[in-house]
Formats: sequence, structure tokens, C-alpha cells
Amino acid sequence: MIILGPPGAGKGTQCERLVETFGLVQLSTGEMLRAEVKSGSELGQTAKEIMDAGELVPDDLIISMISSQIDQQSEAKGVILDGFPRTTAQAEALDVMLSEKSLSMDHVVQLEVDEDAIVERLSGRFSCANCGAGYHDTFSPPAEEGKCDKCGHTEFSRRSDDNPETVRSRLVAYREQTAPILPFYQDKGVLQSVDGMGGMEEVFDQIKEIVAGG
Ligand code: AP5
Repeated sequence: MIILGPPGAGKGTQCERLVETFGLVQLSTGEMLRAEVKSGSELGQTAKEIMDAGELVPDDLIISMISSQIDQQSEAKGVILDGFPRTTAQAEALDVMLSEKSLSMDHVVQLEVDEDAIVERLSGRFSCANCGAGYHDTFSPPAEEGKCDKCGHTEFSRRSDDNPETVRSRLVAYREQTAPILPFYQDKGVLQSVDGMGGMEEVFDQIKEIVAGG
């Protein structure tokens, strides 16, 4: 399945729940790129500047990265694509990739969230520096302040692209380059929209129904 939505819509948050509940594998192009940046690879160096500007990394780099990741998941029950595809060229390349690999697409879930909520969600987001568990200052702080619920680590980090200026550019990139792919999936009859404005569990209940429905 694909999970689509603007920056901060809750894609990663819902993927965590889908992985736990349905045993699916999450493939997040954003996470892959951040790992490349951290490793200092050539791709990471190219990507860092683009990501910090809130723009999209070139299609050819993304398509070959995700294709090799999908190839490594032959044993998986199913895969959730988080943050991919993000352009018409990526959506078309995914179609070709799936047919070449004899794979099918069951669901394309679109999270709908107001822009004001996005800014609030991204400005309060942080994650555990050790295990990557996601938190929010207001909406999902750790049970014990300063300590990760999952691994007990006490250091956290914030993403360098979550500052207001970059968030504005990321929203423009979403509106201009990603939202136009929605009709592509609507025409195929696989697009399902979910109201992403409720609480995290309310949103998950809607997605669970879609996935459990087959
Ligand atoms: P990426 O990492 O994919 O970022 P994004 O799409 O901007 O999405 P986010 O990860 O910021 O948000 P999210 O929807 O996962 O929200 P979350 O669940 O964390 O991409 C980063 C960059 O990489 C791009 O800008 C681009 O440069 C590059 N890139 C990546 N993929 C690419 C591609 N395919 N092509 C080209 N370039 C690519 O939630 C946010 C916060 O809100 C959290 O704190 C959470 O706790 C809270 N929250 C979540 N749900 C709720 C709720 N229901 N109520 C209240 N709070 C909530």
C-alpha cells in the first residue's frame, strides 16, 4: 500500500501502527535519505542540501533507491510505501516496477490535514536519538519526561527541515508536485481518503478498516 499526504500529516505515525498491527514493512524514502545523509555517502551529500531547502530529491535517485529496497522485501507480508511516490514520474515508474516484479497495489491511502495543523505538528515533533521512536511536545510526549518510552534513552533530536521556512517550501512542493498524482490513483479506483484531523488512534481506526477490508 501507499500512504500519501502533506508533510506532517501523520504518515510515519500511522505506519508505526500498521507495522505493529499487520506485520507490514514500512519503506520510507525520507528515512532512507536521512540514513544516507548520516552515513555521509555521495547520495546523502546531494540529498542534504535539497532536503534542507524543502525541495524534492531528483526522481532517478529516488526510483533506483526504492526499487532496490523493494527487492529486499521478498519475504514480507506486505509493504507500505511512505513518502513515495511524490511526483507523476515516480508514480509512473512505480507502476512499471510493480508489473516487472509481479507485485500488486492494494490500497492508496491519502491523509487529509489542514495546513495550520501541519505547522503545529511539525514544530512540536521530535524523536529518540537512539531508536527513532516519534514524539510530539503536546500530542504525544514520552510517559516520563526526557526518557524514551521504547528504549529508555534520554537524548532526542529534531529534524533540520522542521523549521518554519523549510516547512513552507515542503508544503509548496507537496501542492505543486505531489498532489497532482492523486487523480492518477483515483482513476485506477484505489485511492481512499482518510480524515487525518482526529487523534492518532481515531485516524488509525479509519486506516485499519481500509486494510482489513482487503
Ligand atoms: P519525509 O521524511 O517523507 O517527510 P514528509 O513527507 O515531509 O513527512 P514527515 O515525515 O515530515 O511527516 P509525517 O506525515 O510522517 O508526519 P508524522 O507522522 O511524523 O521527506 C523528507 C524530505 O526527503 C522531503 O522534503 C524531500 O526533500 C525528501 N524526499 C523524501 N521522499 C522523497 C521522494 N519520494 N521524492 C523526492 N524527495 C523525497 O507526524 C508529525 C508530528 O505530528 C509528530 O510529532 C506526530 O507525533 C504528530 N501527529 C501525527 N499524527 C497526529 C494526530 N493525528 N494528531 C496529533 N498529532 C499527530
